[in-house]
Amino acid sequence: MLTRTDMQKMKMENRKIAMVTAYDFPSAKTAQAAGVDMILVGDSLGMVVLGYDSTIKVTIGDMIHHGKAVRRGAQDTFVVVDMPFMSFHISQDQTMQNAQKLIQETDAQAVKLEGANEEILHTTRRLTEAGIPVVAHLGLTPQSVNVLGGYKVQGKDREAGEKLLQDAKNLADSGAIALVLECVPEELAAIVTEEIIIPTIGIGAGPDCDGQVLVYHDILKYGVDRLPKFVKPYADFNSTGKDSLEAYISDVRKQTFPAAEHTFNIKDKNLLPKTNRKE
Ligand code: KIV
Repeated sequence: MLTRTDMQKMKMENRKIAMVTAYDFPSAKTAQAAGVDMILVGDSLGMVVLGYDSTIKVTIGDMIHHGKAVRRGAQDTFVVVDMPFMSFHISQDQTMQNAQKLIQETDAQAVKLEGANEEILHTTRRLTEAGIPVVAHLGLTPQSVNVLGGYKVQGKDREAGEKLLQDAKNLADSGAIALVLECVPEELAAIVTEEIIIPTIGIGAGPDCDGQVLVYHDILKYGVDRLPKFVKPYADFNSTGKDSLEAYISDVRKQTFPAAEHTFNIKDKNLLPKTNRKE
């Protein structure tokens, strides 16, 4: 399993980190079998698995439920679990208890927190001191979609770029082990990547980040209708799945499924219950 030191070494040697989200046993199993470096149990599960229109309704309970399934499917892969909406804002005590629950119950290696205000920097330090590694998340932070005014590219002017760079440095100084950069111009992501000591993992942040992360369902075009510009789909499970289910339904209706090879038999008819049925 990847360690924090390996991640750091990969950054130094310019070997890119490949991360993918997973939300359940089969997606985690497939991600591990494919050889991904890290798995993120993202709160994006609210949208791609639970059908919500944002990540805001996702709870600690949801994250634990899905995190446990991911761990069962990928026992040898570094797993990061998102701290969901408002689970790290109400009080430091509640934040620490939520992080403890997430780590102890899912057996994940790290938690991920969106943002970089004073409170989050403090939380990052406290969690790190308590032995819980933190992955930070800047740029488009979906839990703040209503404050940001939509899913938009962030850091597009000098002031916003300088703030993002300073936030990134503060998070690294506070002990974060990696930084997810979502939807920022590639030029800004390249500067942040060069200026901070921890690996950056980009999603819609261009090729110069130390790693990339994408949502499992986006990569496979699985249950999602519209893909963001930054996604490259590598399969089309929507159409493969639909075609396959249509073929199954048609076989059932035509009575060509199940066939002999899908059926169990009793050869000795004396072993069947007695009825008045004609042979
Ligand atoms: O929840 C998630 O999947 C994420 C990624 C988009 C980075 O935070």
